[in-house]
Amino acid sequence: DINNVFAEMIGEEHGLTRKELEAAKDKALQAHKNILQAEAEGKMGFMELPYQQKEVVKELQATAAELKDKFDNFVVLGIGGSALGNIAVQTAINDPYYNMFTEVRDGYPRLFVNDNVDPEGIKALLDKLDPAKTLFNVISKSGSTAETMSQFLLARKIVAEAVGEENVGEHFIATTSKDSGYLIEIAEREGMKKFFIPDNVGGRFSVLTPVGLLSAAMTGVDIEALLAGAAYMDKICRKSDFWQNPALVNGLLHYLAYEKGKVMSVMMPYSDRLKDVADWYRQLWAESLGKEVNREGEKVNVGPTPIKALGATDQHSQAQLYMEGPYDKIITFLEVESFNQELEIPAAYQDLAGLGYLGGHSFAELINTEKEATELALNKRNRMNQTVKVPAVNEFTLGQLFYFFEFQTAVAGELFNINAFNQPGVELGKNYTYGIFGRDGYESKKNEFEQSAAH
Ligand code: PA5
Repeated sequence: DINNVFAEMIGEEHGLTRKELEAAKDKALQAHKNILQAEAEGKMGFMELPYQQKEVVKELQATAAELKDKFDNFVVLGIGGSALGNIAVQTAINDPYYNMFTEVRDGYPRLFVNDNVDPEGIKALLDKLDPAKTLFNVISKSGSTAETMSQFLLARKIVAEAVGEENVGEHFIATTSKDSGYLIEIAEREGMKKFFIPDNVGGRFSVLTPVGLLSAAMTGVDIEALLAGAAYMDKICRKSDFWQNPALVNGLLHYLAYEKGKVMSVMMPYSDRLKDVADWYRQLWAESLGKEVNREGEKVNVGPTPIKALGATDQHSQAQLYMEGPYDKIITFLEVESFNQELEIPAAYQDLAGLGYLGGHSFAELINTEKEATELALNKRNRMNQTVKVPAVNEFTLGQLFYFFEFQTAVAGELFNINAFNQPGVELGKNYTYGIFGRDGYESKKNEFEQSAAH
């Protein structure tokens, strides 16, 4: 529902006009052509995923069936695009207390995603897990990211001490590039099971590869339905009729919003299940679109800043800023039309006017009314907003959401005229870490660091 980005709803100063959108439509259609052309050249790997993984899916399902009873814990070691999709799927589909209670897990192992190198966090987790009953999925496309590989080195040591060197390989799965990086070499040396990340799929576009699908299968998520949802959305995103293609419309809207000074892009699901989709999207949008480019010899820096929020919780934290702070935001609500749970607010204290009105309504009604109220208040304050409506949160709709936002990102990348699929800034940070830590081949980075430290 994009009504609230338009001047009719939020006033001319801050709203877009349909004319503006119509006038810019051709740019979006050109972006669409470029994406389909790049796909034909094999450069849009994420678009192949809904269709080209039948064998992989079988193998993932077989692996999950074989290993789920052997292990109590499944630990993902990865960071960025190698972690966030795992978390988003788990939060969206499984019980929020999945890890805490065996009865809600239905025989599947607990899932932990360790995506940082804070020593306290790592130790707190590893100390509590029985290494003999723990399976690790080491996810790194490059096979050399310092955070992931150092976690692996520690986990490997702990496992080897517990089960013996000769059994280490059975406790690790490697999810990485088929033919480059150190992780594949280690996996072969140790006899680990391997899953592959296609070369033409970048980390943040990889949730629907084994990166996200293995932890999903290991926790009972229907991965075929996830991919079916993505395939369904792919068909919609391929439509070359602008108004029939929501990824084109929304990509263009975000681009025009940015040009109009709405340089912050808030995603605010009114659903606990979708809160980590907003986190996943935050990386997708930031790492894909935040770029420095050279245009006719001039350095240009572009990129909307994504912000994640959660309704109704953040109405009591962020909303004041969204209503009355700078006019620099476009807010995307995710609204769930039908919650998986019907829960009524009990009627009591009917004589107290400030409380009695709540009874008899449902919590679903309350959360969605809160969303509508926030939307209206934003409109009254001339703030650009829109809503993606999700009929219900399940594997099929989640697959749709992932694919939709990935395609929208590709469209936005074309409109901003940048490469949405590289991440030179992230690589630079990684390379300084390698240099400072003394990795061979990165001496120049170490020198740069020392020179900068000397100042
Ligand atoms: O989206 C990306 O490319 C990054 O966020 C990577 O996923 C992240 O840096 C981890 O890289 P790797 O999977 O190579 O360890």
